Amino acid sequence: MQTFDAVVVGAGAAGLFCASVAGQRGVRVLLLDHSAKVAEKIRISGGGRCNFTNRDIDPRAPQQHFVGDNPQFCRSALARYTPPQFLALLQRHGIAWHEKHKGQLFCDGSSQQIIDMLLLECAEGHVQHWQPCAVHEITHDAGGYRLATDRGLVRAPRLVIATGGLSIPQIGASDYGYRIARQFGLRVVPPRPALVPLTLGGDAWKPYAGLAGLALPVAVATGSGKARIQFHEDLLFTHRGLSGPAGLQISSYWREGMPLVVDLAPDVALATALAAAKHRSLKRVANELAQWLPARLAEAWTAQAPQLQRPINEVPDKALAQLADRLARWEITPTGTEGYRKAEVTAGGVDTRGLSSQTMESRQPGLYFIGEVVDVTGWLGGYNFQWAWSSAYCCAQALAAR
Ligand code: FDA
Repeated sequence: MQTFDAVVVGAGAAGLFCASVAGQRGVRVLLLDHSAKVAEKIRISGGGRCNFTNRDIDPRAPQQHFVGDNPQFCRSALARYTPPQFLALLQRHGIAWHEKHKGQLFCDGSSQQIIDMLLLECAEGHVQHWQPCAVHEITHDAGGYRLATDRGLVRAPRLVIATGGLSIPQIGASDYGYRIARQFGLRVVPPRPALVPLTLGGDAWKPYAGLAGLALPVAVATGSGKARIQFHEDLLFTHRGLSGPAGLQISSYWREGMPLVVDLAPDVALATALAAAKHRSLKRVANELAQWLPARLAEAWTAQAPQLQRPINEVPDKALAQLADRLARWEITPTGTEGYRKAEVTAGGVDTRGLSSQTMESRQPGLYFIGEVVDVTGWLGGYNFQWAWSSAYCCAQALAAR
């Protein structure tokens, strides 16, 4: 039997970073992962360029960019390990980066640079890295945690679970973290796919079913009262529903049966614009609308009402006002989501009420949870990786302090 100070299960973003920071602080760390390839999610992230953090993160108001039963939970971690600290790490490794829109930071080169950097950091921390190596059983007794693995029995007083969520099972995602949490009596907020394309169907969707590939800037909202949330982003029509940044962002807040309200021309006062067009134009309504909306969408929309297929000067004022109103408040209820196979993240996870926000240690002494396995889900745009780095860092500091 081999013994370590800490075993980290899961060599993704959070696990690699936690192992490296703890190792460099003198903790004897074993890092295990059942997949053959290291950190596949980092590799495929950000279209191959890894959107590794976001400048707009405000640790004082995490509810602005994070979803979960208690978004305030991530306050301390986000304040203790910030985007500038991660940028300093990149600089030490000579990794160039750039900012896209809305504070999103990407590698200039490829996401492999982030993986290589984390592996180098682990080597500097003398981390033992066994991969692929499955864990068959974990037990706890007075001597700490005992893991039965592909490479034999391992023992450590501290165990860190960094096995991520359920999204993209084809590259190694598993429910292992939730199972370990339950095994030790911790609650798990039911997981669900998030940052995921939404599916639509039925009669209400028929007119738009042929619009796959079409993208446009919209304002999309869901929920009501204090729970109402709205995103100004690009919406993409797919063969089966809605995606693009607007569809993905709103999906994290959407629950079954809830309608979405989409403003298809958020930057135009359509009622005024259509009324003005009526006085100066003899064109068909769809042709006028095409100034502000993609032509295919304008056609699909006007095809639904015979009177909207006439020249705009012949359309009653009331019908034009109604058209403007409906385009600004298109209400549509998704039938579901594309599920974990297409979801960027998993919402829900290990209940933060059972974890310390300072150290990520659970009520079960010596057992820690970091990264996506925890019920903290970030917006699209680098927020999820920053949560992985921040939670991993706090956990590593706690491991080193013991
Ligand atoms: P992560 O999933 O990275 O790692 C978990 C590790 O645990 C994996 O290596 C897995 O093999 C291992 N594991 C699972 N079960 C195990 C078991 N039973 N035994 C041993 N090992 C096990 N985020 C962002 O901020 N910016 C972005 O650009 C993107 N882009 C993006 C694109 C796509 C296509 C996806 C699917 C996701 C993103 N994300 C993202 C989300 C981001 O990838 C995700 O939030 C982090 O990788 C989470 O880091 P973790 O370390 O928690 O889990």
